Amino acid sequence: MTTEPYRDTTLSIEERVADLLGRMTVEEKAGQLTQYFHFGSMFGDAPQTGDGEPNPFFAHIRTPDIVENEVAAGRAGSVLFVRDAANANRIQRRAIEESRLGIPLIFGFDVIHGMRTIFPAPIGLAASWDPETIEAAQAVAAREARANGIHWTFAPMVDIARDPRWGRMFEGAGEDPYLGGKVAAAQVRGFQGDLGAENIIAGPKHFAGYGAAVGGRDYEEAEISDSELWNVYLPPFKAAIDAGAGNIMSAYMELNGVPATGNKWLLTEVLRDTWGFAGWVVSDANAAHSLEAQHFAKDQPDAGVRALNAGLDMEMTMLTPAYSFLPDAVADGRVDVAVLDASVRRVLAAKFRLGLFENPYTDEGLGAEVLGAPEHGEVARRAAEHSLVLLKNDGVLPLDRTAITKVAVIGQLAASKRDTLGSWSFDHVTEDTVTILEALNQAVGPDVEVNFAPGASIPEKKFKSFFDDSTHPNDTTPEDYDDEAEAAKAVALAAESDVAIVVVGERQTQSGELASRSTLELPPAQVEQLKAIAATGTRVVLLVMSARPLDLRWASENVSAIVDVWHPGTRGGEAVASALLGEFSPAGRLPFSWPQHVGQVPVYYAHSTTFQPQGASQRYWDDASVPLFPFGFGLSYATFEYANVRVSALSIGVGESLEVSVDVTNRSQIEADEVVQLYIHQRYGSTARPVRELKGFRRVEFAPGETQTVTFVLGPDELTYWSAATRGFVQEASTFDVWVGGDSTASLGAEFEVTA
Ligand code: NOJ
Repeated sequence: MTTEPYRDTTLSIEERVADLLGRMTVEEKAGQLTQYFHFGSMFGDAPQTGDGEPNPFFAHIRTPDIVENEVAAGRAGSVLFVRDAANANRIQRRAIEESRLGIPLIFGFDVIHGMRTIFPAPIGLAASWDPETIEAAQAVAAREARANGIHWTFAPMVDIARDPRWGRMFEGAGEDPYLGGKVAAAQVRGFQGDLGAENIIAGPKHFAGYGAAVGGRDYEEAEISDSELWNVYLPPFKAAIDAGAGNIMSAYMELNGVPATGNKWLLTEVLRDTWGFAGWVVSDANAAHSLEAQHFAKDQPDAGVRALNAGLDMEMTMLTPAYSFLPDAVADGRVDVAVLDASVRRVLAAKFRLGLFENPYTDEGLGAEVLGAPEHGEVARRAAEHSLVLLKNDGVLPLDRTAITKVAVIGQLAASKRDTLGSWSFDHVTEDTVTILEALNQAVGPDVEVNFAPGASIPEKKFKSFFDDSTHPNDTTPEDYDDEAEAAKAVALAAESDVAIVVVGERQTQSGELASRSTLELPPAQVEQLKAIAATGTRVVLLVMSARPLDLRWASENVSAIVDVWHPGTRGGEAVASALLGEFSPAGRLPFSWPQHVGQVPVYYAHSTTFQPQGASQRYWDDASVPLFPFGFGLSYATFEYANVRVSALSIGVGESLEVSVDVTNRSQIEADEVVQLYIHQRYGSTARPVRELKGFRRVEFAPGETQTVTFVLGPDELTYWSAATRGFVQEASTFDVWVGGDSTASLGAEFEVTA
């Protein structure tokens, strides 16, 4: 029996793709470019209409049969949201055994911060400023996902977020393109490794500019200047692609008027022609369909044509695919078959690369050994430890176990397993999660009493979304909850305790997709409760559990300590407890500037120097225009001293590099990590450059009393930027300031020249 060349593993991927493509009908090609949601194993059957018929809008979402029949007919190239090996295998069998060419499906899923073992919310992972830990976390996530039959993740989200009202700040790395690029690359490396049996393809998203949603309102348009695009919003994508990302997801919103999913400039000119991206691009969910709703495409067939011709390879959909009309468009010439073929080639190449033609199925016994493995929990705990940011400490931390007998733990979030995990986790086992309350109870030892009061409640969202209707029940406040009485109990408990650990923040459904908000305020009842607790004279340690900065003006002046714990994940409670007890020193740093209140938004450190720069902190007459905590900020239990910032050359030519070194000393008697950060400023040039820009960082471990010299290289990669004056990348002759320190306000610096 002769084997078809596309099944011959001795041939190159290009040869195999070419052979297979030559055998495909136009309909099968359009099928390979279609990715269906399969919610069968998540939500059960489709809701019915009043007439007892499946509701057509939900038909594809909730009626697995429809999707599976498309698979069997060779009209689907990928399925998302199947998340167990048995189901994946069953559906894969239909593709392999029933479709004409037996092309395997590629299964995708949102593996965002863990599959079974949940890591801190991505914004918290970014706060570790520790690419190694982030890479290790996503490698675990990939291993667990692969055991569930998943080949591809819609992650990392690399959208820059400078407006914390935007709910998806949760999922990114914050405000800075340099940090964002390093975090993005680490995640890609973690997920993809060498694309072996325990790896999955990474799909950085949402290309591009989604984080600039007007007013922080999810899905709304983004108006971004070319300079901001090239210098701020695009670099993390470029970094992810340079790290080898195999896929990219397009964004929903219009970028400067053109929907990203039908934006040829973005998807073809930037991504392929300028950057040479060789992988495939998938739309965000229903985004091709939405080109009609966004009044860009005339109708669904036009949406399909416009998206494909713009450079969108694959459509992700819950609905009748816009790409199902592509065969007609090829027939009447609106789509050139060469364009269709180019997209199909990219999708097939990924399937060959993953070895799916040889190994389409997943060992169903693997999950038992891989999912939630103890060593994965250790990685999660370490990631959570590294993510904690100490924002204030008057010396109450670390808690002195010998000096306390009674600890009050206050706040619903302290005991909520679901909220400890955070949003965008779908396949966890909630019960495996260790809360802050549980961990503290365990950690303090028999001589210390830990008492809990849930206290003032967290108000529900006024407008709920799809995400409030999850397979894992969300924690909510019972309807008969007596807020005043509970707050009074919490205050009384604090009064009789040696220290009050008060957890404030947001529930997991209060950030993420469709979870933007108009203010950053803590619930008024929680602020009142906090004031009453502080008035008892008991020292207050405030833990902030959220994925965005909240208004901490009162707290920052009136409590003893503040730690941002994010949504810390499966082992997060233990990480928090051991930090509070001084088993390690927190060393996470803010990946964004923490605004005083919503009226300052957006506020970010890399702003322009502006006219009258000396007045930059007083741009409002009613309040300061500087953030509450600067970008890169975070305290330590240790004390670090920076000295001798020096440059290896006072003058270099364009294209050359120099070294910047600093001596950092741990002046304390404890081991601790320090995040050493390097910022630059170009004093003059063809455009006015930001007052500071991060261009290097390193998280370094220090022994007690140890001094280390930390060296950074500054060269063309760091000194080049996109100039709106020349409309291209330039490295200019100029004078540069350089600062090194523990946050973006570092004052120790040097300067050097770059000559033409
Ligand atoms: C919509 C979200 O915007 C995107 O990030 C996600 O990957 C898809 N839905 C699939 O769940």
